[in-house]
Amino acid sequence: MILTNAKIATLAKGTGFGLIEAGAIVIDGATIAWVGRETDLPAEYAGLEQHDMQGRMITPALIDCHTHLVFGGNRAAEFELRLNGASYEEVARAGGGIISTVTATRTATEDALLTDALTRADALIREGVTLIEVKSGYGLDTDTELKMLRVARKIAKMRPIDVRTSFLGAHAVPMGMDADTYIDEICIPTLRTAHAQGLVDAVDGFCEGIAFDTAQIARVFDVAQELGLPVKLHAEQLSNIGGTQLAATYGALSADHVEYATPADAAALARSGTVAVLLPGAFYTLRETRMPPVQAFRDHGVPMALATDCNPGSSPLASLLLAMNMGCTLFRLTPLEAMQGVTVQAARALGCADRGRIVAGMRADLAVWDASHPAELAYRIGFNPLHQRIFGGAS
Ligand code: NIG
Ligand code: FE
Repeated sequence: MILTNAKIATLAKGTGFGLIEAGAIVIDGATIAWVGRETDLPAEYAGLEQHDMQGRMITPALIDCHTHLVFGGNRAAEFELRLNGASYEEVARAGGGIISTVTATRTATEDALLTDALTRADALIREGVTLIEVKSGYGLDTDTELKMLRVARKIAKMRPIDVRTSFLGAHAVPMGMDADTYIDEICIPTLRTAHAQGLVDAVDGFCEGIAFDTAQIARVFDVAQELGLPVKLHAEQLSNIGGTQLAATYGALSADHVEYATPADAAALARSGTVAVLLPGAFYTLRETRMPPVQAFRDHGVPMALATDCNPGSSPLASLLLAMNMGCTLFRLTPLEAMQGVTVQAARALGCADRGRIVAGMRADLAVWDASHPAELAYRIGFNPLHQRIFGGAS
C-alpha cells in the first residue's frame, strides 16, 4: 500500500528531522519499500492501494527502551513517605522500595501480573509505541524472575507490539542474604535457566550503593558474554561508583540514568558505542537535582535515548510523550534529540537496527499524528495527538 499526502519526519541519518512535505511511503508487507515526495513516486508503485493521510505528520513509531512494566502492587505509600522528607535510599534501606515490590510480585499470579502489565502497555500503544523493553528484577528468586519474563513475552502475544526482555536479576539484594551469595547462588543460575528457556534478550543490572558494586555486576556480565547476550546497566543514578566505565568495557548496548556520569565516562561510552539512556521520569519523581552531562554526551558524540523507566517506585510513568517533554524541559534536550531519543537511538539501545527511521528497508512501524511539526510532540504536556499507529505494515 501507499500512504500519500503526508508530512514525513524520516529521521534519515544526517538530515535532522528529515522532513518531506507532500510525501508518500510505500509499504511492502512489514517493510518500508520507498519514501519520498509524492511527485517522485516511481511508476512501478502507481497502481498500489493508496491511503490519503490528509496532510498529517508521519514519524517512525515510538520505542520505549527502558521499562519495568511487569510488577505487582504499587508504591503510593512510599510516594507519601518521600513527600514527607524520606529519601529513595532511606526508604530502600528500611526494606521498602524495590524490596516491597518484590514481595507484591512474588505473591501475584501470572495472570494478574499480565493484566496489570497490559494496562500499562496499552497506554504506551495509544501514544504510538510499537516496541518496548521489559525487565525482570522484582523476583530475586528463580521462580519469580522466570514468571516476570514469561509475562513480558506474553505481552507481545496479546497486543500488537514487540517486546525485548532484559534479565535484571541484579536489581536488589533480597532480605536476609548478602549480595555476593545472591549473585553467585541465585542470580547467575537463574540467568542461565532463563536463557535456556529463551526468555532473555539482554542482561541488565543496578550498579549503585544500595544495590551491587562493579565487581558483582562484572560477574553477571561475564556470564552474559559467555551466553552471547548483550548487556546494559543502571549506572550512576544516585552516585558515581564506576558503572558507566564498566558498561563501556563490556561494550554495553546502553548505560541508563547516568546523572552522575562524568565527561570521562562520556568519552568511554563514545568509544564503546554505548547509548546513554536518559530517564527524566525518575529524575522528576525523586526530585533529583544532578543533571546528566548532556553537553559532554553531545561533545563526545554519545547517542542519547529517552525512556519512561515505567516502574512503581522511582518512575510511575506510562507516557513516552511526557518523557520527551521532560527530557527537553528538565535535561535541556532539543526537540530533535527527544524525537531521536524515542526512535532511532532507542532502537540502538535495544540492538534493533531495523527500526527508528523511515527509510527503505526498515520495518514499517509508523505513527501518524494530528500535528504539523515533530517538535510539537515534545512541546505539549498531556496531549496525545496520535491519529493512527502502523505496526509491521498493519494498522
Ligand atoms: O530504574 N534504579 C533501579 N531501578 C528502577 C527503580 C525500581 C524501583 O524503585 O522499583 C529505576 O529507577
Ligand atoms: Fe530502571
